[in-house]
Amino acid sequence: AVTHVILTGGVGSRLWPLSRKSQPKQYLDLFEGKSLFAMTVERNRTLVDQIMVVGNSDNCHLSRHVLEKSNTPYIDIVESTPRNTAAAIAFAALASDPEAILIVTPSDHIIGDMEHYNKAIQEAVEKASNGFIVTFGIIPTKPETGYGYIERKGEDVVSFREKPNQVTAREFISKGNFLWNSGMFCFKAGIFLEELKTYNPEVYEKSKIAWDNNSNGNLDLALSMDIPSISIDYAVMERSKKIKVVVSEFSWSDLGSFESVYDYLVATGHPVDPNGNMVIGNTNYTAFVGMKNTIFVYTDTANLILQKNSSQDVKNVYNALEQEK
Ligand code: GDD
Ligand code: MG
Repeated sequence: AVTHVILTGGVGSRLWPLSRKSQPKQYLDLFEGKSLFAMTVERNRTLVDQIMVVGNSDNCHLSRHVLEKSNTPYIDIVESTPRNTAAAIAFAALASDPEAILIVTPSDHIIGDMEHYNKAIQEAVEKASNGFIVTFGIIPTKPETGYGYIERKGEDVVSFREKPNQVTAREFISKGNFLWNSGMFCFKAGIFLEELKTYNPEVYEKSKIAWDNNSNGNLDLALSMDIPSISIDYAVMERSKKIKVVVSEFSWSDLGSFESVYDYLVATGHPVDPNGNMVIGNTNYTAFVGMKNTIFVYTDTANLILQKNSSQDVKNVYNALEQEK
């Protein structure tokens, strides 16, 4: 059986104020009138036998709303506190038959070209059946430092490098055999757990204790706090020798920052002035004077003005506001 595991832990703090704790970006009906979460469900539902949502108590009602509207049965795993993706995926794997194939995806990506997407998933499921851990590689277009890189030789992974610095990212791009990690994975539940146990026994053991004590899919806070917070990328992908890559010919965008939202909006015809300035969230006439590549984000309760190339720093505003509470 194939299970679609949807990770929906993040608040998308780099998209504040569009994205709020009570209304994370994946639930906003921002893109083509639908939410990214709903699009994620739709994209995969005919390819899988069941859906498992790993989220938290702040957002599980938002996921439920989407899934019930589309009449899709699903299994709910509710974290009491975010412990990053290694633990979140471990819970899903522990809740599954070891032979079950899991397709793990974020809930906040834009993906186009379903024919190629379906083909890539099929290819991944086949490799996963043979005991491999599959990543989906995207052909890079710039030396982005917010992504993981896959150094490959054909379908084999030579190395996996999570979030390199600028200099290293440039080196990767110039070498030509590096792909971006899309953050989507496919593997047998049992194989993932074996690899996690080998390369990060503490995350494995503590996630298992927390999962074994879950009540109806709800995780205990104290037991969860004990789990080291580390991503699947550092915990498993950088170390496992069982990784294969499927090169993705579908279009992909991680709408992680205003820079990537900007690129997506430009590509889909959203207005931008001759100096590259853009307004998001408001149709009022807005003029920019003496500014270049500025993004003005307008919402009912908060506004943000930023230089496009400072997009990664928006999370500092979010974090500072969280601190004040
Ligand atoms: N349930 C749950 N619990 N979900 C989580 C948690 C958690 O504690 N932490 C993160 N997630 C979800 C996020 O909501 C997101 O959908 C996904 O897991 C990935 O986490 P991010 O925090 O967005 O990771 P990233 O963007 O820094 O990096 C990952 O994605 C990149 C591509 O978008 C890595 O896999 C990179 O290698 C990759 O390039
Ligand atoms: Mg991300």
